[in-house]
Formats: sequence, structure tokens, C-alpha cells
Amino acid sequence: MTATLQTTNSAARDVSADAIVIAVGQDAGGLVLAPGAQDVDAALGGGLAATLSALGATGKPEEVTRIVSAGKLAAPVIAAVGIGTASAAEPGSTDAEILRRSAGAAVRSLASPKIRSIALALPADDAASAEATALGALLGSYYFGRYRSDGHPAAELTLLTSAAHVDQAVARARVLAAAVTLVRDLVNTSPSHLYPETFAAEAGKIAASSGLGIEVLDETALTAGGYGGIRGVGQGSVHPPRLVRLSYQHPDASRTGVFAGKGITFDSGGLSLKPPKAMETMKSDMGGAAAVLAAMQAVAALKPAVNVIGYLPLAENMPGSRAQRPSDVITMYGGTTVEVLNTDAEGRLVLADALARSGEDAPDLLVDIATLTGAQVVALGTRVSGVMANDDAVRDGIVDAATRAGEAMWPMPLPQELRKGLDSKVADLANVAPEREGGMLVAGLFLREFVPDGVRWAHLDIAGPAFHEGEPYGYTPKGGTGAAVRTLVQIAQDVADGRL
Ligand code: BES
Ligand code: ZN
Ligand code: ZN
Repeated sequence: MTATLQTTNSAARDVSADAIVIAVGQDAGGLVLAPGAQDVDAALGGGLAATLSALGATGKPEEVTRIVSAGKLAAPVIAAVGIGTASAAEPGSTDAEILRRSAGAAVRSLASPKIRSIALALPADDAASAEATALGALLGSYYFGRYRSDGHPAAELTLLTSAAHVDQAVARARVLAAAVTLVRDLVNTSPSHLYPETFAAEAGKIAASSGLGIEVLDETALTAGGYGGIRGVGQGSVHPPRLVRLSYQHPDASRTGVFAGKGITFDSGGLSLKPPKAMETMKSDMGGAAAVLAAMQAVAALKPAVNVIGYLPLAENMPGSRAQRPSDVITMYGGTTVEVLNTDAEGRLVLADALARSGEDAPDLLVDIATLTGAQVVALGTRVSGVMANDDAVRDGIVDAATRAGEAMWPMPLPQELRKGLDSKVADLANVAPEREGGMLVAGLFLREFVPDGVRWAHLDIAGPAFHEGEPYGYTPKGGTGAAVRTLVQIAQDVADGRL
């Protein structure tokens, strides 16, 4: 569900909305009003900071305090959100992520069937803070109502800003918000509605509306083309697999970035069946493919001078009389044989075909994104993704791109010593190692075997961050989060700029 955001240069007192949001920071002297709040304070006749303090507001990040405007503003409710100690009085110096989270937390706590329109009197007079405020607010207003009979539309947002030069920044925020929203919607859609054919159809619609090139391989083409990983994983389901290839081209591009996202529309584990609890969130196992699709949509809108290809290997991992068996040997795209010892290690099988195929695109950088291992969650928790690569500079460059995009990712090694665990008694490789230790890294080592020679490659394991089971925080709701999509857009930009 996409919220809308418009801008206005009207004075705060004249903007009619169900609620208006201001920000308050903390300094040595107590609560201070952030840029944007002064007009609201003036309309009330001063004393806003004192009133909020009296109600117990401290200005700590994401704290929301509501007061009524008692007829002094066109908006009946004023909500003050804390932004902490970031130098609140100095425009432009507020840390972008704090601003995104605060705007997100405020909108999230307000948006309800009663509060349909929200004005934002938040820092927005320079490009960086306008983009952060707009993006945080849009992400915080996310609502997934597809399966609710009492569903309501997403809120309407109005950003107060006097600066015309922030238009481009706000437009970028809208593009990024639409991309994150698309990922969240796809992840939250139930696997009874989203399976390889319907996912590929969705990709077709987005390609058509964004002007992206698209090629879809169906089960017949996958068999004929030798995509043994995607076919093997998909063969136990009544919903046949697909491989989608999306392409974006820029006339001035001299470099090509390739993305590949794991697209398991439901991961039951296959015959190596998962326990019931572990299966409950496995509709999110296509979060990598959704991030690639959404990043392609955003790239098509932002138009960086680079060529970008996106692969979505899509399959449903189910047990059944036609499902692959532990000990089956499959032949991957490019000819490598794999002994499938555990059918629940399926993500690496579908990705291996996509990685091998990507050699035909001559990538300058190849990045795969996957909800790949439970071991990632054990190692880094639910909010930090792991980054592995066959080149240290690429790995660090991607962590840096993620930081600039406002996403938490951390470098992880690919220890050569773990590679022998993937030796098979009968085939070129086994899909799992006998020992559990270092499971995230072993999965990375498996994928590395399929990276075309000489290609710089990175692997992002987003198993934890893709789906949020706890209470909402900042701009992050329960359910699909949209993890990695902003980083992918940043990577495309960095490849265009020669930075990656
Ligand atoms: N989709 C799962 C990984 C996962 C786990 C994602 C938890 C999100 C949350 C993946 O296909 C899987 O089952 N991996 C196995 C690999 C093992 C069999 C080597 C795992 O992590 O247990
Ligand atoms: Zn699995
Ligand atoms: Zn999986």
C-alpha cells in the first residue's frame, strides 16, 4: 500500500491535516525545538518546549508526545517526536538515519483510521534532511491491508518546506519508498497468492511500467537450458519454477552491474522438512528476489549511467512424490554437478544457476542477495546483514554503500579452510557440509564456486533483516521490511560513479 507525499511552503498554522508532526532534540539545557517547529511554536504563542517538558517529553529518539492545538493551527493534533542529541538547532547536521527513524516512528504511531492526513513540520530545508524526513515518513506510513476486510488506505503526507531546491531529494525519497513498499508487499503476500508464475507476472507488469527489458524462462525452457538447480528445487511443487531476467540500459553507460536475488516463494525445506514453527515465516524466503525487482524499478526511475541486469530465480520448495531427494545429483547451469544432501539448503542451488548464467552479461560487479542461512541470524542477529565477497575492497565498498543508504551490514570472511566440507563423495560438490559451524560462510563458499572467472562478486545474507517478527520500531513495521533494496540502488549508483 503506497502512501502519498506532497510538499507545501504554506505556514505551519495554515496547513490542514488531521495531525502535524514536529521534532524535539535534547541538549544540556533540556528540550529544544528542531528546525520546522518554530512556526508551530509561534502560532501557539510560544511555550511549546515547556508544555512538552511538563508532559514528560525528553526528546529521546522516537519518543512521541501528543498535544492538542486548541484552534491555533489548522491541524487539531500536534505530535512531537524525539530526535535525541543530534544538533537539532543546526539544519543539515541532523544524522539522516535518526531523522528517517524519527519521522517513521511519528507517522507510524499516528496513522490510524481516524488520522488519515499528516503534516510534517520537520527538518527539511536542505536536500539531505528533506530526503530523510520524506523517506522515513513514507516508510513509517506503510500498511498492508490486502487480507483485511476492515482495511483502510495509507495516510496522506504533506512535507512543509520553504526550499524549492529540495524537490529532487523528495522525488528520490518517493522512488526509494515505492521500492521498499514493493518489497514489503511482495514478502507479506501469502504463498497461496505469490508463487513463481504470479511473481514473474508481477515482474512483467513492473518491467512494462518502468521501461525495463524482461525475459522469463518457464519450466520447459529451464529444463532445455540446463538450469538444474532451479529445476531441482522447483520439481516438488505444483507451481513450476521461473527464471526472470530484467535489464536496464543507459546510453552513456560503460559498466554493467548484475544483481541476483533468491526467490523461494515458500521454503518448507522440501523432503528435509522444516519443523512447523520454522516454516511460519518462510513466505519471506523470496525477499532477495523482491529486493532485486524493486531495485530495478528504482534504478529505472533514477536513471544512473550504468547498465544493470537483475536475475530472479523463482521456485517453491515443497516435498512431494516428484521432489528431489537427499542424495540426488543435479547438473547446474554451466555443468557443475551437485549432490543434494539437504533439500532445505535450496537457496544456494537456485542462485548457483543465476550466478553461472550471469557470466554471459560480462559483469563489472556481481551481487547476490538472499535469505540464505539461519546461521546468519545466529551470528549477526535480526537487524544486521552479512556481506561476503571474493575481493576485500568489494566487500568493504558494499558495507560502505549500505551505511550511506542507511542499512546495517557487516563484513564476513570466506575462510578457505571451510571449503573442504563441501567435497562430495560422488559429485563435484555437496550442497551442505557435515558440520554446522560457520554455516553462513559455508553457504558463501558454495556460491563462490559458481561465480564466473575473473568477476568481482559479493554475497549479502539478509535472512534476519528481511522479515521483522518483533514490535515495530522507527520506520520498520512487522513483517516484510524491504531489507537491502536501498543498498542495491546505492550500489548501482556507485558502479555508475566508478566507486565500486
Ligand atoms: N530459507 C532458509 C534460511 C533462513 C532461516 C532464512 C531463517 C530466514 C530465517 C534456508 O533455505 C535454509 O533453510 N537454510 C538452512 C541451511 C542448512 C540446511 C545448511 C539453515 O540455515 O538451516
Ligand atoms: Zn531452506
Ligand atoms: Zn530458503
